[in-house]
Amino acid sequence: MILVIGGTGRIGSRVVQQLADLRLPVRVLARRPEAARALAGPTVEVAAGDLDQPGSLPAAFAGVSSVFLLTTQSPRQEAQERAAIAAARAAGVSHVVKVSAGDAATAPNSPTPVGRAHAAAEAALKASGLSWTILRPSAFMQVALEPLLEGARDSGRLLLPLGAAKVAFIDVDDIARAAVWALTHPAPASDRTLVLTGPEALGLQELAPLVSRAVGRPVKAVSPPMLLVRMIIGRRIADPFLRRHQLALLGLMRAGRLAAVSPDLALTTGQAGRSVADWLADRS
Ligand SMILES: NC(=O)c1ccc[n+]([C@@H]2O[C@H](COP(=O)([O-])OP(=O)(O)OC[C@H]3O[C@@H](n4cnc5c(N)ncnc54)[C@H](OP(=O)(O)O)[C@@H]3O)[C@@H](O)[C@H]2O)c1
Repeated sequence: MILVIGGTGRIGSRVVQQLADLRLPVRVLARRPEAARALAGPTVEVAAGDLDQPGSLPAAFAGVSSVFLLTTQSPRQEAQERAAIAAARAAGVSHVVKVSAGDAATAPNSPTPVGRAHAAAEAALKASGLSWTILRPSAFMQVALEPLLEGARDSGRLLLPLGAAKVAFIDVDDIARAAVWALTHPAPASDRTLVLTGPEALGLQELAPLVSRAVGRPVKAVSPPMLLVRMIIGRRIADPFLRRHQLALLGLMRAGRLAAVSPDLALTTGQAGRSVADWLADRS
């Protein structure tokens, strides 16, 4: 049995779908079981459980051999991952596939609090005695680019504070594909960190013509100054933790730290990631 934590979210729902398509036994741990049941379909088991309530976890972990571990960005993230790792150990799980932050952001001295939490949770997983696979995905196309398309359609401007930097954006479907590979190939995936990126790094100059084609009008790329970005983020993101994370992440992006292209996705799954051009073509 494979237990999916975060199975109602962006990556997790795709992991559940891909595992179900392979007819593998899947269980989703969910705070809202009814919503998870509706999403996952009749062939997927759903177990009630909340990572903030460790007492709710043993029943969900019973009989589980592998765990997909994904938590959402919050000040509770590290504690939630530690609770899941402890529950996995207690239940005799053999392999845990954990989603971390990107390679540049995940470090004990990371400028982002989310990156520091992931680094601590990675260390806890490595020290647990469980077999592990860590996925370090780059910036998601669905998160970093999708919200910009409407603005580009309405105003003809693509606003992204990248300066001259490039980013190796990744499609969330490809992250799920890597996770499913690791869950279904525990021996070759064991004790490995996979850095997951798209097949190329793009900057504003490359993105503008692709977005123009997708939205059907000429689009001018604009990199707003960080002072303006701070003001916009201050207005849009109420939670101070998420605000700090977002600003630090943009700082890393702008410094070119998310530009490296990794071969890990193709080397493990046999197929490179989707390009931004292909991903945008579906949204035109
Ligand atoms: N955005 C990026 O570009 C990026 C890049 C690299 C890495 N990441 C990492 O990717 C992860 C986010 O992935 P995502 O976008 O797929 O997440 P997401 O869509 O926000 O999904 C989060 C999932 O966690 C579940 N959850 C939240 N609190 C829970 C709790 N207390 N107990 C059990 N389940 C709980 C949610 O369930 P409910 O349905 O109950 O809410 C949901 O299924 C983060 O760890 C982030 O650091 C993000």
